[in-house]
Amino acid sequence: MNEVKILGVGGSPRKNGNTDILLDSFLKGAESAGVKTKKVHLKEYSIESCIGCEACRKDGTCTRSHDGMELLYPQIEEAKGLILGSPVYNYNVTAEMKTFIDRLYPFYEFTEQRPGPYLSKLEDQGRKALVFTVCEQVLADEMGFTLEAISMPLEALGYEIFDRFEATGYFSKGAVLKDGDILEKAFEAGKKLALNLK
Ligand SMILES: Cc1cc2nc3c(=O)[nH]c(=O)nc-3n(C[C@H](O)[C@H](O)[C@H](O)COP(=O)(O)O)c2cc1C
Repeated sequence: MNEVKILGVGGSPRKNGNTDILLDSFLKGAESAGVKTKKVHLKEYSIESCIGCEACRKDGTCTRSHDGMELLYPQIEEAKGLILGSPVYNYNVTAEMKTFIDRLYPFYEFTEQRPGPYLSKLEDQGRKALVFTVCEQVLADEMGFTLEAISMPLEALGYEIFDRFEATGYFSKGAVLKDGDILEKAFEAGKKLALNLK
């Protein structure tokens, strides 16, 4: 099992925080099903925000920012499964996660028509994604747009959103560690994703 089947991407700037810990549980669950995984903590990759130059339309990849995305593009292509998670920051994803999602733009294939239809280089390949979020407040409404902000762009890129996972009521760094139930649920969700990718 050499090929990475599931790439886990954590968008919290806080290392070893709740997003990080939950991501570990998803990936452990996936590995228990015999799938190779890799974890990415976005804060450790220098990723510039998209400058909207549209050069990727003709170049096929980002030819303007030579940064951490150059390492991540091939890994995203290789992994048929993607786990993307962000804590809620003001009803939305973190800046790190938004920047990462915007930089997925080179995976689109646009036409010259404006506004025009678009295709994705990642579509029709059986790609599946699990999206998750963690937040302080308990009511689901308090998560705002976070899950949609992750799942809608992934759907546009051709991923089936296999699971949407919400962890509400966790504020302090590592708070999820005290809740074996949520960690077990994350483990099982990761395992289920892996079994469905096989
Ligand atoms: C800048 C900032 C904005 C936040 N906004 C929200 C929010 O809108 N709703 C909420 O429930 N929690 C909010 N939180 C709390 C975090 O979502 C919560 O602490 C989460 O567990 C952090 O995850 P992490 O440990 O992976 O970084 C915010 C935290 C920060 C630092």
